[in-house]
Amino acid sequence: MNKLFAPVTLGNVTLKNPIVFAPTSVGREGLDFYEKIAAGGAALVVLPDVSVVPSMLGAASLDSMKFADYFRKVLEICHRHGCKVAAQLFHPEYDVAYIGSLYRQRDKITGDEVHRLLAENMMTYADNLTTQQADEIIEKFVVAARNAQEIGLDLIEIHGDRLVGSFSSALFNHRTDKYAPHTAFAEALVKAVRAAVPEMTLDYKLTIRTESPRLGRGGALLEEVPEFVRVLEAAGVDSFHVAIANHSNIRDTIPAFNHPDLKGEGCFTHLGRAVLSCATKPVCIVGKLQHAETMEKLLEEGFACVGMSRQLVADPYWPLKVSEGRENEILYCTYCNAKCVASIMTGQPVSCVQWGRAPKESSKEEKSS
Ligand SMILES: Cc1cc2nc3c(=O)[nH]c(=O)nc-3n(C[C@H](O)[C@H](O)[C@H](O)COP(=O)(O)O)c2cc1C
Ligand code: SF4
Repeated sequence: MNKLFAPVTLGNVTLKNPIVFAPTSVGREGLDFYEKIAAGGAALVVLPDVSVVPSMLGAASLDSMKFADYFRKVLEICHRHGCKVAAQLFHPEYDVAYIGSLYRQRDKITGDEVHRLLAENMMTYADNLTTQQADEIIEKFVVAARNAQEIGLDLIEIHGDRLVGSFSSALFNHRTDKYAPHTAFAEALVKAVRAAVPEMTLDYKLTIRTESPRLGRGGALLEEVPEFVRVLEAAGVDSFHVAIANHSNIRDTIPAFNHPDLKGEGCFTHLGRAVLSCATKPVCIVGKLQHAETMEKLLEEGFACVGMSRQLVADPYWPLKVSEGRENEILYCTYCNAKCVASIMTGQPVSCVQWGRAPKESSKEEKSS
């Protein structure tokens, strides 16, 4: 393993190895889990979905310094193990005040109705923002980036999905103003954040969708990737994290073992290669990665980092076990999506069906069923 345990540099930050804990909602606070990930040997934790506006559900956000102590605690835990921490900055792809008011009326409106109204709002939200409101949202990213810098976070990852993904996608963006071009909002956002925190390493989660088959919704079409990469690099991003586009489409974003189009280890690698072929900045790839040999080959091919979400949920000590030649002790994710995904839906701390099993029991039964 020449590259899997060698340092890698993104912008101004050097990671002790290229192994990234991809953004993964781990439930309220998640400090204990981050401790395991950091102690387990990953070099970078990307804190998921850190909002630039107050969170409807009270999750840690960076719109103010209200959660500074929480972020400092995560940093302290991870740094103790030589693991860096990024905040994934995002803005919801719906009107937070309106959706919040629906949730507060749950005695009058059924859950199904709330979901219907949420889906309807998501379809029109980016289009309905005035140019001034869109500019103000960019300012909120700037405030959050400054807060991240003041707190001492190691990197910022701009989430190219969610609202940014709406602006990036022809399915959601029918605007006629300066934000009509699919790259325009992302470009203005990255330029503004880069100007506000010139020294900070800026990663961009470039989410990609395809039309045939239709996979993902918010984000760049595969054929738009070269233009997005060109524009974003010129605007100031230091690195890319590539995955499939989302928009409440968890089926594709977190594909299960039996997804018809996103099968097998490295299921997003074709998307990553589209970025790698035109990027001059480092590219991180994710998607059902779980074997060291596969990741070594991806690093040899030119990817700078390899991200894992579910494999590190199943076994946060994966890097340590591989580096010590203890692969036989690894608990393998079967991509069943049974517990980890269910925990996002219910707001419970992250969990996994493999926890508590002996390694040899972490079989592939779900894959073969
Ligand atoms: C429980 C869970 C929560 C996730 N939460 C986020 C998130 O908040 N933001 C994000 O960009 N991706 C999120 N993801 C997607 C992962 O970052 C990753 O792209 C995806 O799971 C594919 O990687 P994997 O096959 O290694 O799990 C989540 C995935 C899981 C399993
Ligand atoms: S619950 Fe299933 S998909 Fe989720 S991490 Fe565990 S084995 Fe993987």
